[in-house]
Amino acid sequence: MKALFPIFNSHPALVYLDSNATSQKPQAVIEAIDQYYRSENANVHRGVYQLSENATRIFEESRLRIAAYINAESVEVIFTRGTTEAINIVAQSGGQAFLRPGDEIVLTVCEHHSNIVPWQIAAERHGVTIKYIPLTADRRLDLEAARELITAKTRMVSLGHVSNVLGVIHPVREIIAMAKAVGALTMLDGAQGIPHLKVDVKELDCDFYAFSGHKAFGPTGIGVLYGKKALLNAMPPYQGGGDMIEKVTLQGSTWNELPSKFEAGTPHIEGAIGLGVAIDFLKSLPLEKLLAHDQHLGRLLTQKLREEFPRVKILVEPGEDWVGTVTIVHENIHPHDLAAVCDSDNIAIRAGHHCAQPLMEVLGVTSTARVSPGLYNDEADIERFLAALRKAEKLFLS
Ligand SMILES: Cc1ncc(COP(=O)(O)O)c(C=O)c1O
Repeated sequence: MKALFPIFNSHPALVYLDSNATSQKPQAVIEAIDQYYRSENANVHRGVYQLSENATRIFEESRLRIAAYINAESVEVIFTRGTTEAINIVAQSGGQAFLRPGDEIVLTVCEHHSNIVPWQIAAERHGVTIKYIPLTADRRLDLEAARELITAKTRMVSLGHVSNVLGVIHPVREIIAMAKAVGALTMLDGAQGIPHLKVDVKELDCDFYAFSGHKAFGPTGIGVLYGKKALLNAMPPYQGGGDMIEKVTLQGSTWNELPSKFEAGTPHIEGAIGLGVAIDFLKSLPLEKLLAHDQHLGRLLTQKLREEFPRVKILVEPGEDWVGTVTIVHENIHPHDLAAVCDSDNIAIRAGHHCAQPLMEVLGVTSTARVSPGLYNDEADIERFLAALRKAEKLFLS
């Protein structure tokens, strides 16, 4: 698989173990962007000349492919800058349409900041309370507590499909069922879901699903908000500008239909085209086998850490409900120091709070080191990381 990713030609010694932050890009995605600028570049939805019509066609075909992949209608696929913007659209426009004083929003303690902060802003604006589903001792979502927290007062339940820190696949079907039983809306932050799991929004029956292209082999600056048509239609626009209007007069404006209503201004055309190719790439992959591959690497690392490194605390137990992410804290080595030692050996891991400060507090740490394997990693990469850890212990413990 490594051969499909040109970055490893530019950096043959690179061990990239930070796929939860962003994925590397396959040749096909890079080529599609290159091709767009070399021979297809024009603005979309505007020109009556061939070049523009062709750019519009490729751009919209990309939307169709993405919609088919997640089993949505194409008008339900809104191009956004990424997961963050997608959640902000729902929190702001959806907040205006659906939240009333006294309502409650239910999130979980392990959300990425982008699935907390937009709701905090909306909660303050609309007089709404936020409640958080806690974790059990084995760092899974506490479903008993969720049952107590999701009540007739709940208007929105929003949670990650997969945790970016723990790599745990959340029991989203159970939680969506709880939300539906009380008439609440549901949103899934799929930033870490789409790269690992086949997503069918109809089967999940969530009201909204957000993801970023760059974590799923696509370009940065592009992502998707899926929303059920009736809900998107009931929401006011998020931003005003070109493309999102039906008619503008000096007295006021009316809105275009979906999906344009939520896509003000010139879109990220090459990003959307690249994302379409990334989705084709995902479609061509045996996702279940790749999940098993990532789990295998995560398990191998966990086992070796347990055997050889008593000073390393592993923050999540491997399981079937897990994408292979290994998050650790070393008793004597700061995560940033460990990441710096890894970097000196061309190994990329992530250190910090992973945009999940509330989860860090729950875990009783300020930061962690995170190893997140992907399809371009193998057992030799895990060995390289372990060697760097040995080197760090030598440096810091002697
Ligand atoms: C679970 C989760 N949600 C949301 C985001 C935000 O994604 P983006 O920065 O691409 O908008 C991330 C990125 O790390 C993430 O891992």
